[in-house]
Amino acid sequence: MRLLIMGPQGVGKGTQAALLAEHYNIPAISTGDIFRYNIKNKTPLGLEALKYTDKGELVPDELTNKIVKDRLAQDDAKNGWILDGYPRNAAQVEALDAILAELGTPLDKVVALDADHDVLMERIAKRAKIEGRSDDTPEAIAKRLETYAKETAPLLGIYRDRGQLVEVDGVGEIKEISANIIAKLDA
Ligand SMILES: Nc1ncnc2c1ncn2[C@@H]1O[C@H](COP(=O)(O)OP(=O)(O)OP(=O)(O)O)[C@@H](O)[C@H]1O
Ligand SMILES: [Mg+2]
Repeated sequence: MRLLIMGPQGVGKGTQAALLAEHYNIPAISTGDIFRYNIKNKTPLGLEALKYTDKGELVPDELTNKIVKDRLAQDDAKNGWILDGYPRNAAQVEALDAILAELGTPLDKVVALDADHDVLMERIAKRAKIEGRSDDTPEAIAKRLETYAKETAPLLGIYRDRGQLVEVDGVGEIKEISANIIAKLDA
């Protein structure tokens, strides 16, 4: 199973990706997590990414695309994967198409989660308190939500046109949402 999970900041992509990864026995790959790991360990990649993440800006496509390409070519991704946080703009959709064509591993489905703005703001505020992510400042959050609406949300139409979009309500019990996703994917 090769999946994307998409949706606005705070909708629960990471949480649901982990449950899907367990269910289908595939790795959950989050570009945000990869950047955070590198930032924490002060690698050259992390130092470069930090210039953008802290401002709530996208890391340049060239860098992000390369990371995804390398990660999807790793051994544990042979039997499938779930990608969280990528693609986020039209150029990344094109890059992903090229990567998957080269690997000969087409995408199966795109899970789109959604929730009302109020719910998202509440969850992000709660996460900011618990996790202390350096990019969960009000300014960076606002910037990320704006970029999502402008650049990422329109991408759902591309996958809908390809007949791959699976839309699920992101509000409810975590287990219930995950059961809904799996039921739709297996239908
Ligand atoms: N596909 C991408 N392209 C460019 N930059 C990215 C990409 N994915 C992650 N990043 C960078 O990493 C940061 C954190 O990403 P991440 O997906 O974890 O956060 P998010 O947008 O708050 O979503 P979530 O609420 O699901 O954690 C982004 O703000 C951006 O700077
Ligand atoms: Mg996340």
